[in-house]
Amino acid sequence: MAAYLLFGIAFVLCHGNVESDTVLFRSNERFTIVSESNVTTNAEEFKDPKNTGSYLLNGTGLASRALSLNIILSKFKSQSSDYFRAHPILIDCAQLTITKLQKASVAVEVKKGYQTASDVKGSTTLQDLYLRSGAAIQLGIKAGGSGTLVDIAGAALSSCPVVFESAQRNLGLVLMADRVHIHMTGGTDRPYIATDGYTWTGAQTLSVWAQLKIDEGLEPTGTSNCDAFPTLASGSRFPDKNESEVVGTLDIKITRRMENDFKRLVQYQGNNIAFEDSESSASWCGEAGNTCKPCSSGIVGNSLTDRCADRVMSSRMYNFLVKLSKLISTKTPGAKLKVLEAWDEAYDGHTNGDSSNPMALNYEGRAVKVKLNTGSSPDLPTIAQLARCAGADFIQNNGDHLYISVKMMRGSIESDAIRSFPNVQLLAVDVPEYVQSYYDLPTEFHSEQDQKYPLFDSSGKENLALADGAILRQFISRDPEFRYFRLNPLIVRCYRDIVYHENKWRKDGDPQINVVINRAFLANPEQNSMFDRLDKRYNTHNLGIALDISYDAAAPAGYNVTRLARIAVQKCAPLFVHDKSSESEWKGMSLGLYKNSVFLVMDEGFSLYTSKDYVRPDGWSEEHFDDEFYNLYELAINKRIVDPDYKDQACLFSHPPRRQSISFDYEHPEHVKRRRRRRSVPTENQCIPQDATPFCQSTANHRDEVVAEIRSMLDRKWYYHDKDEVLMALDGCFKICGTCLEGTIYENKVQHCNNFLHWISWDLNNDKNPDITNFYSRENLNTRRYACENGEHCIEQAPLFSLVAPSAELLYRPNPAKSVEEELYSSADNPTPVFSILEELYGIHAVGKVKFWVHDDTEMTSMKTALKTVMLYNPNVTKIEIYVVSPASKDAVRKIVETSASDFVSNGCPEHSRFALTPYEVLDIPHHLKKRSAEPPGLKEEKLIERRNWEKKWIDMEI
Ligand SMILES: *[C@@H]1O[C@H](CO)[C@@H](O)[C@H](O)[C@H]1NC(C)=O
Ligand SMILES: *[C@@H]1O[C@H](CO)[C@@H](O)[C@H](O)[C@H]1NC(C)=O
Ligand SMILES: *[C@@H]1O[C@H](CO)[C@@H](O)[C@H](O)[C@H]1NC(C)=O
Ligand SMILES: *[C@@H]1O[C@H](CO)[C@@H](O)[C@H](O)[C@H]1NC(C)=O
Repeated sequence: MAAYLLFGIAFVLCHGNVESDTVLFRSNERFTIVSESNVTTNAEEFKDPKNTGSYLLNGTGLASRALSLNIILSKFKSQSSDYFRAHPILIDCAQLTITKLQKASVAVEVKKGYQTASDVKGSTTLQDLYLRSGAAIQLGIKAGGSGTLVDIAGAALSSCPVVFESAQRNLGLVLMADRVHIHMTGGTDRPYIATDGYTWTGAQTLSVWAQLKIDEGLEPTGTSNCDAFPTLASGSRFPDKNESEVVGTLDIKITRRMENDFKRLVQYQGNNIAFEDSESSASWCGEAGNTCKPCSSGIVGNSLTDRCADRVMSSRMYNFLVKLSKLISTKTPGAKLKVLEAWDEAYDGHTNGDSSNPMALNYEGRAVKVKLNTGSSPDLPTIAQLARCAGADFIQNNGDHLYISVKMMRGSIESDAIRSFPNVQLLAVDVPEYVQSYYDLPTEFHSEQDQKYPLFDSSGKENLALADGAILRQFISRDPEFRYFRLNPLIVRCYRDIVYHENKWRKDGDPQINVVINRAFLANPEQNSMFDRLDKRYNTHNLGIALDISYDAAAPAGYNVTRLARIAVQKCAPLFVHDKSSESEWKGMSLGLYKNSVFLVMDEGFSLYTSKDYVRPDGWSEEHFDDEFYNLYELAINKRIVDPDYKDQACLFSHPPRRQSISFDYEHPEHVKRRRRRRSVPTENQCIPQDATPFCQSTANHRDEVVAEIRSMLDRKWYYHDKDEVLMALDGCFKICGTCLEGTIYENKVQHCNNFLHWISWDLNNDKNPDITNFYSRENLNTRRYACENGEHCIEQAPLFSLVAPSAELLYRPNPAKSVEEELYSSADNPTPVFSILEELYGIHAVGKVKFWVHDDTEMTSMKTALKTVMLYNPNVTKIEIYVVSPASKDAVRKIVETSASDFVSNGCPEHSRFALTPYEVLDIPHHLKKRSAEPPGLKEEKLIERRNWEKKWIDMEI
């Protein structure tokens, strides 16, 4: 029955809530179980005479279905009945055999499988009884195919014993005249190798040959180069720690009577490793009072009572030993490993092994003593080297033998058992049956969920750092009776990130902020005595998906439950929600607030629970509080909270835009100040600023005219800021001439332009109403149409823009005869920061929704300053909509916005920025706007001129 579980007996819900049992085969086909009494009145007809545990299945209409890759039901089942028996483990063995033969180009066919009692007409030969049980198959060579029956027998002998061992069953194999009969034993039948109608002509006896084939099947494939591992001198150990810290201590002495625990151990059936006990025909004795039986000679039996103690060990030890054995014989051909002791019987008076150590791991099959069987090469230090290479967890060279032990591990495949935590990996384990109920999953969980909530063993690992600042001890039961625990790795990361967050902005001398774990894992008895079934915390701690945390008593004022809950949402919700591993079924987070602690749990969505004793901050209604936390959760999972790792750095270099103000005073950003202090010499690729260029000299009077014109406008209004300073800034902004976008000349322009544009009382006007702000790339007339027309507001409508833009865009004719136009403030000759400052100002004055109109990703890139202003800095902006003209560029635009957003959250300075980035959407141009056809091409020049005139008119009107 237990064996079936491995291969999945599934309880399927059929329509109408009728539950019916099915058996699932490797082919992924399910067959329905039927009861014998429902299909026949003849009690013998479909009986399992060998008690193999197979089920009677309904194959009606399903004859063409496969039981495994190469075994079709019609070939396997009786020709006279649609009901059949088939043991999935036998089918596994048969398929492995067929696969092996196919690889060797031997074509086999199924000669016979299941037979009913009437099919075999009362025959009681062993073969026929097993055929009736559904635990036998007969394979022959396909007509005309190459290969021999000996090939088939050899393939079965090397494929099936390991499969059957896992179910504590034995292989039966009979060479017949035209076929090989293979069966898996039931009841107490022993391994059986025989001929019936076949004449064995091998060089060795059949049983010696059979054992060699079995040995072949036990050899791991491949080998490793172990030269990189050091040898281990006599008296030393690896790793150099106490054994219990590496592999944990003994939990319980497993005996044959503890069937489920004993079944998990496995028996080595081969002869490639020598065993002290079997050779000296020492014995296993069963329960006290029994006479001791020698370990069987010949092929070992796998039934629980047949197993030979020293051949028995945990799966992990088994995997290790077969690897080691192969490494040894590869290193020195002919050399053989000898196991002096593996699992120990623990019955009174018959301790085979280390009776001096009642806690020896041998009792769990997790320790062995080994040496070389004969000869002296490789020597023990080298065998220890190979043992490390083969994956032993702990090795001690005791001079005349090696002592080796392994960790507990669930199942037989390490990669299935490994779970990765930030700093370490842990192995999932099976717990001994006597404590199973302490750790059972809630009854509503189905068996497949087992994999998602693995148990780990804490023994010896209490001080292991799972992550920086997260020690295993903090996450396990406080009651030493419960050494096993569940723990989702995300819970560890969540805790680590909270602790990190609370300390990352700490300055020298600030106290360390400690976050205490009050509860992480709880065993079932603990949670049952602690929580009512209706408590939100019931069935959470026992799953390893919950934490109960507090600041410690030394935490400064303000470090209260509310804050801790906020940080928990901020740091953990995104982890839980965005985790990609299939392991986690939970994509959300819930919180419980208590008087002195915060409970957090991985959950389906978000919910907040405040206990009666929790004190809400003053002035918060319950609803308001709930909403705020929900908002925070949304911001957190959308990764919009500004949260740099290096706040000091982020704030030092942040240069937030400011609204217009008469008290504004431009300060250079930090990187400029630093460069100025260093007075660094420009590197080769750098632009070298020059102000005495012919261009600057010949155009000085044009710039004077610009200033004069702006001044004349200014004079029509009141100067709120000191007039002399304003005029000085005006001069600095428009008269300074020089090349390059970096260096002192440009920096001076930036300073003066900033001061000028902030001080004067010409408005941006997009703060007069919400939701009117539009950005577009000023070179693009098509997007300009969306941004500026039909009642939309764009920067051109800002009085401040109209005041300076016509001048800044002014063209002059250096030589009227040539009539070549040039810009007064061209980027090559004399770049001006006016437009980027205007954009920034327009952005910081925006209120409500802000729209961007871009053709493609290149345009989006050019608008990053505006994006940063409204996304990171301006607290009055509620939403950003980015409309993309070219559908093919939409993804590229989104990528740029996403990249910028993640740059803002990790490099923004929370002291200057919004708490969270403005939400944004990347959209197509709305249909109704697109329909109004674009303007005829080729009008660009005209349009620009027209616009300038319009701007001038507008300014005149304003005054
Ligand atoms: C046997 O038949 C009875 C009555 O038709 C039905 O309720 C029951 O489910 C059947 N059992 C199986 C195993 O098919
Ligand atoms: C076996 O399956 C066939 C086809 O689905 C069905 O008609 C029949 O009733 C089944 N037999 C039993 C005993 O359930
Ligand atoms: C926790 O501290 C914050 C910040 O100091 C404060 O605003 C809040 O009211 C406190 N919460 C409670 C429940 O006292
Ligand atoms: C926008 O936010 C600023 C603070 O940055 C505030 O002073 C101003 O009044 C807000 N404007 C509007 C229209 O809400």
